Amino acid sequence: MSPPPTDTAAGTDLVLRDVGVRFGGLVALDGVSLRVPPGRIVGVIGPNGAGKTTLFNVVCGFVPPTSGSLTLDGRPFRPRPHRLTRLGIARTLQGVGLFPGLTVVENVMAGANHAARAGFTTALFGLPRSDRDERRLREQALDLLTELGVGRHAAAAPGTLPYAVRKRVALARALIARPRLLLLDEPAGGLGAEDIDELAELITALPGRADAACSIMLVEHHMDLVMSVCHEIVVLDFGKVIAAGTPEQVRDDPLVTEAYLGADVPAGVTGTAEGPVVAP
Ligand SMILES: Nc1ncnc2c1ncn2[C@@H]1O[C@H](COP(=O)(O)OP(=O)(O)OP(=O)(O)O)[C@@H](O)[C@H]1O
Ligand SMILES: [Mg+2]
Repeated sequence: MSPPPTDTAAGTDLVLRDVGVRFGGLVALDGVSLRVPPGRIVGVIGPNGAGKTTLFNVVCGFVPPTSGSLTLDGRPFRPRPHRLTRLGIARTLQGVGLFPGLTVVENVMAGANHAARAGFTTALFGLPRSDRDERRLREQALDLLTELGVGRHAAAAPGTLPYAVRKRVALARALIARPRLLLLDEPAGGLGAEDIDELAELITALPGRADAACSIMLVEHHMDLVMSVCHEIVVLDFGKVIAAGTPEQVRDDPLVTEAYLGADVPAGVTGTAEGPVVAP
């Protein structure tokens, strides 16, 4: 499978410049620069502890960078978790993180932006609400679940469903906000080979969705998935970018092979220093 063609009119343009994060004496990120251009899927890979989730958390606003800067569509960007939806950013977290007390479709509805969700939350608390708004939101949620192949589970409690289905529900919950930038942390984590192949197809189609195009930053351990869906890949090791470029460039880079040596990653993976991903 090859990545979808780039649509430069779609999605946001995220740039990180020289981002550093320290946790006490530990340097989790060191001078990391990367770009997620409009409509592109950019993968961030690296061995355990390389700093992938920390980088993800910087973009989500969970972890403030100790140094460096971010821009979104050319404007200074200081991420705050509660402001992400308004900025057109949605995320799925490592693991699943669904609300156990809500049905699948309600979980997806809960991911909508504030305006769309108003009717739904007032309904949850038994307050007067707009039936029409809630109906519309429910329809959107059902459509998304169907698009992701899990529509038949809409009325189920998440806890009763297989892990792979719950991961799709979490993706639907992120997509209902119609993000222009989608952040995915380990979407393949815990999935079997067949589920990963299907996920790759789904992710590949996301940047070009009608009326809902987006850019994607994909943080992922699973090399085959990253190689098959990403336009560009950034490789982290000990908090630094050791390689960046197309999947082919990264695969052939000896530094990447070395970083992964001994790690549980398929053979044949190897990065290049200054690929097109690295911000100027
Ligand atoms: N909140 C924190 N406080 C202190 N150290 C942290 C914190 N979060 C991460 N670290 C450390 O920062 C480094 C990078 O961790 P991070 O979780 O970003 O790696 P990762 O690439 O996501 O790893 P994995 O593949 O295991 O998910 C690790 O050494 C980790 O122990
Ligand atoms: Mg991680």
